[in-house]
Amino acid sequence: MPTFAFSTDRPTDQAVDVLVLPVFEGPEAGPGVKDVKGIDLLEQFAASGAMGKRGEFLLVPNTGDHALAAKAVLLVGVGPKAAASPDACRRAIGRVARQLGRRKTVATTLPQIVGAKDQLEAVQATVEGVLLGSYRFERYKSKSDGAARRLARVTILGGGKTDAKAAKDSIRRGEVIAESQMWARDLVNTPALDLPPAGLAKEAQAMAKEVGLTCKVWTEAELEKGGFGGVLGVGQGSVRPPRLIELKYSGGGKGSPIALTGKGIAFDSGGLSIKDATGMEWMKSDMGGAASILATMRAIALLKPKVNVIAAIPSAENMPSGSAIRPGDVLKHRGGTTSEVLNTDAEGRLVLADSLAFLAEKKPRVIIDTATLTGACMIALGTDLWGAMGNDHDLIRDVLAAGAAAGEPGWELPMHEPYRKLIDSDIADIKNIGKRYGGAITAAMFLREFVGDVPWVHLDIAGPAFSERQGDYWPKGATGSPVRALVRYVLSKA
Ligand code: BES
Ligand code: ZN
Ligand code: MN
Repeated sequence: MPTFAFSTDRPTDQAVDVLVLPVFEGPEAGPGVKDVKGIDLLEQFAASGAMGKRGEFLLVPNTGDHALAAKAVLLVGVGPKAAASPDACRRAIGRVARQLGRRKTVATTLPQIVGAKDQLEAVQATVEGVLLGSYRFERYKSKSDGAARRLARVTILGGGKTDAKAAKDSIRRGEVIAESQMWARDLVNTPALDLPPAGLAKEAQAMAKEVGLTCKVWTEAELEKGGFGGVLGVGQGSVRPPRLIELKYSGGGKGSPIALTGKGIAFDSGGLSIKDATGMEWMKSDMGGAASILATMRAIALLKPKVNVIAAIPSAENMPSGSAIRPGDVLKHRGGTTSEVLNTDAEGRLVLADSLAFLAEKKPRVIIDTATLTGACMIALGTDLWGAMGNDHDLIRDVLAAGAAAGEPGWELPMHEPYRKLIDSDIADIKNIGKRYGGAITAAMFLREFVGDVPWVHLDIAGPAFSERQGDYWPKGATGSPVRALVRYVLSKA
């Protein structure tokens, strides 16, 4: 991991291996480009065919004829000036993060593309972009891909009026959040073979010990005693038993806590309502919600906001077997509500029902859940956006705002009341599937039954949690989304 420093010194004085300078789409010079004398960098950039679009770059070596202490300049396109934002910084540096990994020292004026008001945000986003963009999952590679990881020091050059102490805090926030998000990626990318519910719980315990959180793992016998029929029911088809991971962060004295939960299905085969082979290909990622909550708790523990946060994360493996639950079975959840399981592939809501009911008992100020819950949400919103559904307008607004500001945006789907009857059951309190259409909403309505009158929002992250393509700051696979949004929400409530 490189170390980051903040400075308001002149970019041309930076004696580094690479000086990264932004170019707006046009091309129009970004901050620092015109300061480099002896060569017209913009002309070279344009001559290479680059327009300043995000993702474009040009490396210009310092052959001694320009007034510059750096060994080379890396010009990066950041898109139109009018659209400059912290997220544009994260994306622009994220794209070149891997090449930067081959150098030892780097400096950049990137955060200066935004005005003074957003400067600190841009510093944080730049740090996140460097770290998240260099992430690779190499646990199962017998050889590394050969990309050198030499980067030792990154100097972030901010505008002259930026408060150095505040910038240092922004750097630290960026580091903690990116590291936590990369840990979430590791958990999600790890094959289910090597990460059963008990393995996830072990990871949580190790993390808790490292950062100073209270952690309790519920065993099967304890879940039985506690009436967690949903977690047990989904888990009973697997030889690898379910768990509930409880975490606690106390930073807010006697205040009522923020409560978090996330879907932790180690592998979703669909159970007896089995998926086809393609539908199962990426179902190791069905614990993406759980991973995002664990990583959020890690970041909170390190950033120490003055607020209380509790988490209860259910984990089970959804497998078909002689001991698996069958379509038509009825489960009794924590708190006594019963559900008729008509499709064993709608398992996420069954485990979350228990954890939501459990958290609601603690009278938290709000409950937030994240879950790779429905394909229907991906159909509605695509792969970039999570869906937000809940029972409290202010909470939904705050979470959407946190997501937009963190570069992990979501969109609200309506809790259209006439759809509630689609999950009425003939023999139990509720059934676990509605109709094909509106599936994200009926799933959320199922969850709503378990939160009582606690303000609650559900984030359906089936789309953004896992990417089948490389993005600006993530390779194919787990994205760690929406850790940045969640951490930001919690920090905003301190
Ligand atoms: N884990 C899946 C949802 C999912 C699908 C996430 C694809 C990411 C990518 C969930 O458990 C599921 O199987 N949902 C079903 C619900 C249906 C049976 C009501 C779905 O969306 O098809
Ligand atoms: Zn699932
Ligand atoms: Mn499923």
